[in-house]
Amino acid sequence: MSVELCRTADQLRNYLGKVRGEGGIVGLVPTMGALHEGHGALIDRARGECDVLVVSIFVNPLQFGEGEDYDRYPRTLGEDLVFCEVRKVDAVFAPSMEELYGDRKPEMVDVGVVAEHLCGPFRPGHFSGMATAVLSLFASLAPDRAYFGEKDLQQLAVIRRMVADRILPIEIVGVETRRETDGLAISSRNQYLSSDERHVAAVLNRALRVARQRIGDGDRDPQVGRAAALRVLELEPTVRVDYLEIVDPYDMQPVDEITGPVRAAAAIWIGQTRLIDNVACEPARKARRSREK
Ligand code: PAF
Repeated sequence: MSVELCRTADQLRNYLGKVRGEGGIVGLVPTMGALHEGHGALIDRARGECDVLVVSIFVNPLQFGEGEDYDRYPRTLGEDLVFCEVRKVDAVFAPSMEELYGDRKPEMVDVGVVAEHLCGPFRPGHFSGMATAVLSLFASLAPDRAYFGEKDLQQLAVIRRMVADRILPIEIVGVETRRETDGLAISSRNQYLSSDERHVAAVLNRALRVARQRIGDGDRDPQVGRAAALRVLELEPTVRVDYLEIVDPYDMQPVDEITGPVRAAAAIWIGQTRLIDNVACEPARKARRSREK
């Protein structure tokens, strides 16, 4: 196998020292493994833009809350290495807990207002735990670029804010969500769904697209698109909604009026599985023109 497996930051830095070359761009795709086509989208994009590509695999306990799926989270390192090999990844960094955090609890990253809404209240400590892992990964290999999926939009926003606050010289690249043919966003958690649940799961993207349609049609009151999308979710009695909000695409705050691009974002439960998704929404030109008068 030509993909280099590094278990320690020293191994990884030695490897990068050898292959980086003068001015070579090092890209990082941080993952928790169980790689699928969603990660494939990140890896393909990074492969096309970076000289050296590292994929990290670390199931980060700090970002799982009590009762969440840390223990049952799929761990498939052998298959993940093959996945990386096929996509011409240069190195996989798969550190242990001790390697990434040392022998004491790390100082947690304060993620501030970006984590106040959407998943923030439903998963207390999640974004702080996630950002703490990503910061340790950034410290381990000092990438020039790091790639994150837009499916986890709030995660992307938290990372952008963390990097900006610390003035880290790392370019954060958001990559469009890869979807199944019925619109379901590809996610490691889809494998928890039974076949009936999998069928129902397509309703999430369908509902968000209804919100996008209303906004595109010129409804500037976010509650109109939001209510229309919620009505679609209500058609599926087994779905439980954590939230559905129309938010600013950068600071993740719900908007009072739609005056520019926004995101419709939602989290739902189907059985024991929590799914999230979001879509970009653009207000209608007509509505924008009438405001500009
Ligand atoms: O999106 C993920 O897989 C994780 O949240 C990440 C970014 C690898 C941090 O643990």
